Formats: sequence, structure tokens, C-alpha cells
Amino acid sequence: MKEVRVGMIGYKFMGKAHSLAYRNVPFFFPGSAMPVLKAIAGRNEKGVKQAADELGFETYETDWRKLIERDDIDLIDIVTPNNSHAEIAIAAAEAGKHVICEKPLALNVEQAERMLEAVTRNKVIHMISHNYRFAPAVQYAKKLIQQGRLGRIYHVRATYLQDWIMDPDFPIAWRLKKEVTGSGALGDIGAHIIDLTRFLVGEISEVVGAMETFIKERPIEGEAGKKGQVDVDDAASFIAKFENGAMGVFEATRFAAGNRNRNSFEINAEFGSIKWDLENMNNLHVYLTEDDKGLQGFRVINCTEEEHPYAHAYWPAGHIIGYEHTFVNLISELMKAITNNELKQPNFYDGLQNQLILEAIERSSKEKKWISIAKKLEQLS
Ligand SMILES: NC(=O)c1ccc[n+]([C@@H]2O[C@H](COP(=O)([O-])OP(=O)(O)OC[C@H]3O[C@@H](n4cnc5c(N)ncnc54)[C@H](O)[C@@H]3O)[C@@H](O)[C@H]2O)c1
Repeated sequence: MKEVRVGMIGYKFMGKAHSLAYRNVPFFFPGSAMPVLKAIAGRNEKGVKQAADELGFETYETDWRKLIERDDIDLIDIVTPNNSHAEIAIAAAEAGKHVICEKPLALNVEQAERMLEAVTRNKVIHMISHNYRFAPAVQYAKKLIQQGRLGRIYHVRATYLQDWIMDPDFPIAWRLKKEVTGSGALGDIGAHIIDLTRFLVGEISEVVGAMETFIKERPIEGEAGKKGQVDVDDAASFIAKFENGAMGVFEATRFAAGNRNRNSFEINAEFGSIKWDLENMNNLHVYLTEDDKGLQGFRVINCTEEEHPYAHAYWPAGHIIGYEHTFVNLISELMKAITNNELKQPNFYDGLQNQLILEAIERSSKEKKWISIAKKLEQLS
């Protein structure tokens, strides 16, 4: 069996989620390539050594460049804040390593274009970690759409609601600094619902948006009594038109009290509707106009049956899976991509397309007008 030797950069939230996925892929998807957790990189020796022990890596490095130079690494996994993605991904591609990068792909379109160019020119496999595509219920929604069960799509309504920075005394963490993160709620969680709707509905052709920063000054971490300006959005709302004529309404906010991580969408189409919500991620709500009049209504499908993508890898029907399995499914696709030397989606192409939409929404919010998504790259194969 082919081994894929993983070098990971960063080791906190996503570091843990990705590490767990590599460890579980051979267990749930036997026969796929075998990920080997070879080395992890971080700047702080004590922290990275502890992470290597806890997450199960054989060795560690305190400089990510050393990790990329190593001959015993096949794949670089980037789980660092957004301002480091471009430099690391390009260096990895130039060294001939396959790359998976967390979302959003970069700080801006210019960086994302250079990243796509580097992975393409160096002919390495690349993916972006839009894990929510890999919930079986989301994949089943895609299957119903592809089968034509819903017909023409009219509406998509997608929201990603969080509430973790509502306290004005919450400090300016990296996700609240433009130079590190690119944008606020928009790029952090809006990017996920853009990806989900691109996956399910199709390409977005035009957007109009509004962004707001509710708390404009916050305490600076480690500097008692000092406050700094917040230069990213707390919330972003936008309307989109899709190439196929569908209309979309989107909301990404960190100020939706009581909503810890409510990632949800509803699609209304010619022959029915579908609804999904991460907080009940195994269930897909489906309404079909073909049902007898008296029986019409949303049915709840627990997507744990053989027919539901990825569900076969886990437990008997009705035995649900969770957040972490979206990463296991994603990494299983990455292992297939590397084994067969064949790109899978979502990849850097999707990351760039997403970034074009993010940047258009920011421009629209500033200029108060509709913006066309200027660039349309063909899917790379
Ligand atoms: N797919 C998802 O659902 C999801 C969820 C959360 C975060 N993310 C993305 O994952 C990335 C990381 O987010 P997180 O929540 O894990 O952040 P985090 O703050 O929990 O962890 C970031 C890690 O990167 C390390 N780091 C920072 N700068 C570095 C550098 N220059 N060199 C080496 N290491 C460095 C930090 O020490 C830390 O280990 C971000 O791009 C974020 O947008 C994606």
C-alpha cells in the first residue's frame, strides 16, 4: 500500500482536526493510501514537541522551511493563519510536495492566483479544506440535484452564524486583524457557505454586499489597558446571482447571539426544496412537490444509509457521525487523489474562485453597487 508522508504546519484547532482525520482514514477507508504522520512544524519548540506527542507525529521542526526541504515528506498540510498560506503553499509546490491548505486559500486574489499557478506548474496534487462539502447529507443533496429530482433551482438561502466575539472586551485575536486574516466573518465563515453553494447550485456571476464592524475598538492581547482598531468585518450580508439564473441570499456573522456555529442552507427549486443545518448534520430535510397532496411536507432523511455518500464507511444505518468525520471524508479523497495522481475537488481552483467572490463582496460593500465576478477560470484536470 502506498504511504503518504505528511508534514503539517500549525497544530492548534485545525491541526488537531486534520491529524485525527489522517489517523482515522485507514480505519474507515481501508485500501486507500496510508497517511504517515511524519513531522509537524511550529515556531515554539516546547509547544511543537508537545503537539507532536499529542497528535501522533514522529518528529518536529521549528521552522516550516526545514519541513518542506525534507526528503521524507510527500504532502504539506497548512493549518496556520491565512497570511502564511501563500508563502508556504508556493514553497511546498516548488519543492514538489502535494499540498492541502485550510480556507480561505489566501489573503487576496493576487496571492490565490500565485498559489494556483505554483501547484499547477509543479504538477502537484492540491486541495482546500472546505470540509462541510463532505457531510453525507450535503453530498446526498448534491446527488438529488444532479439527478434532476429538484429541477431548476430558484433560490438558495445560506447563513453561517456565530456569536463568539460579541463581548466588547474580547481581544483583537488573529481572526480580527486584516493583515493576518484578510477579512473577518466574510472570509472566515462566509467562505464556507460560498463553497457549499458553488458545490450545490453552481457558479456565482454577480454579487452585491454590505459589511459592518459593530465593535470598532477592542483590547490588545498582552497589552493591559490598551485598545486597538478592528479593521475587519464582524458581519457580512450579500445577495448573489448564479450563472444558471438562481438567486442567493447569504449572511455570515459573529454577532448572532445564541448561535455557536449555525451553518445552514435552504434550496428552493422547481420540484421541491432541501434544507440542511450543521447542528443536525446527519439530517437532510426534503420536500418534493410530487408527493400526494395530503402527504406533502418536509421529510427528514437521516443520511446514514448505504445510499448516502461516505455513510457506508461508518456504522449501521441510524448510527450517526459528527463534525470530525467531514475531515476524515475530505482526507480520504486527498489520499485517492495522491494515489491516482488525479485532482479532486475542492482544490486551489475552487479556493481562487472563492477568493474572487470574497473580494467582489468587499468591493461591492465599499462602492455600494453590484460587482460581476470578473474571472472565470476553467476547472483544471
Ligand atoms: N475548515 C474549517 O472549518 C476551519 C475551522 C477553523 C479554522 N480554519 C482555518 O484553519 C487555519 C488555522 O486556523 P485555526 O483555527 O486552526 O487557528 P489556531 O489559531 O487554532 O492555530 C494556528 C496554528 O498556526 C501556528 N502558526 C501561526 N503562524 C505560524 C507560522 N508563521 N509558522 C508556523 N506556525 C504558525 C500557531 O502557532 C497555531 O499552532 C486558518 O486558515 C483558518 O481559517 C478552518
